[in-house]
Amino acid sequence: MGISGRPQDHRSFPASLAGGSNLVGGFPPGFLWGAATSAYQVEGAVREDGRAPSIWDRFVARPGAIFQGQTGEVAADHYHRMEEDVALMAHLNLRAYRFSIAWPRVLPQGTGPVNERGLAFYERLVDALLARGIEPLVTLYHWDLPVALEERGGWLVRDTAQAFAEYAEMVARRLGDRVRWWLTHNEPWCSSYLGYALGIHAPGMHDKQLAINASHHILLSHGLAVQRLRAVLPREAQIGIALDFYPVYAADERPETQVAVQQADVFRNRWFLDPIFRASYPESLFTVLGVTSPPIQTDDLALIASPLDFLGVNYYSRMLVRAPRSAAAASAAEHASYEVIERIPGAAYTDMGWEIFPEGLEVILTRLHREYGVKALVVTENGAAFEDHWHGGESVHDWQRIHYLQQHIEALSRVLAQQVPLKGYMVWSLLDNFEWAFGYSKRFGLVYVDYSTQRRIIKDSGRWYASFIASQRR
Ligand code: FCB
Repeated sequence: MGISGRPQDHRSFPASLAGGSNLVGGFPPGFLWGAATSAYQVEGAVREDGRAPSIWDRFVARPGAIFQGQTGEVAADHYHRMEEDVALMAHLNLRAYRFSIAWPRVLPQGTGPVNERGLAFYERLVDALLARGIEPLVTLYHWDLPVALEERGGWLVRDTAQAFAEYAEMVARRLGDRVRWWLTHNEPWCSSYLGYALGIHAPGMHDKQLAINASHHILLSHGLAVQRLRAVLPREAQIGIALDFYPVYAADERPETQVAVQQADVFRNRWFLDPIFRASYPESLFTVLGVTSPPIQTDDLALIASPLDFLGVNYYSRMLVRAPRSAAAASAAEHASYEVIERIPGAAYTDMGWEIFPEGLEVILTRLHREYGVKALVVTENGAAFEDHWHGGESVHDWQRIHYLQQHIEALSRVLAQQVPLKGYMVWSLLDNFEWAFGYSKRFGLVYVDYSTQRRIIKDSGRWYASFIASQRR
């Protein structure tokens, strides 16, 4: 099987890292303990079995776009090692696995005939998971739009929203008898803002107006897909979307800073949350972004707010902001209305430069339940990149990641104690993988990948997580 490292009883970890010690209460039976990946980040095999290119295959070829010009061509070679990886998940005691389907693998032209060989890969994956008692969570869009659709305007045109709904229905018809948990999009904030305004993700554009326009079509595609999924999936299907959240905190007591907090919250959290759960864009969104309204047609917002069964929450960090203290600071800031404090004295950071702030997970989950009435929540991503070192043996000592996971899991137990309907937790990520613009330079995995041989080595955090899950078994 090629798996190194053995799960062990969590009591054999140093006391400070032995899971469960600071939990407020137990987790409910059936809680989905899992890990997540996405297609382009792990699969590789970009030209195999009829897969056509996505906007990411194209974007990575741009000089300077990705760290050291790296690409997802091979990634973690998961396409060829799927059975081994599912065995690894079972070895880690995972109860759930969140993965994404590569749209251009199953519909190379974005619409039209199904590529049966591509689809067969996901059928085999789902069957392998179910055979091991691992619940699949399918994400339909984790940023890899078929190039064929990009050439027809991509997310800047309404037709792409229709194409997405048709794609969603096709996949649901084929996997709906076996897959219960469905996510339409992953982090549409990133697809829109990083892709169309900052140009650091595919398709690499630099215009905020395009970002808001793209975001509207992505939201529309979500609403249309929810309707199609609802129509073809069995009643017990759970349909949702994964959004990324950064709770916003004030860096000082000034009243202007309170305004800055509200604006940063609109930009970073409510841009997608409000249309989906309140059928409206936040009032100040277009002003905060400095754009005009996207092309909204009658009924769009009603569609976008189609009822969901759950919300996927991706949580990594918080934002600490203040009102700019001078005109010069305001013009230097990305948004004139607030400044982000990047380095907080005394705070701990991951290798991404993201502040470690477990309390934010508690804050966002309780807020989503209380303010937005979200029916059920799943943490669809949480995890950390650290500089891991492998010395050729059977282990990778990543105590910082154990500590990170433990602190965030403790936050979950506090959330559950407040009667928030939380159903699961997915660590990002199962494997080290292609971290977008950072290439392979950031390692998030519970499992180390030696890219030159594709050998998998379970990190101490993977062993810790396995034993923690076992300790929760009832
Ligand atoms: C999220 C993405 C995921 C991964 C993590 C680190 O924004 O959804 O693909 O890159 O960040």
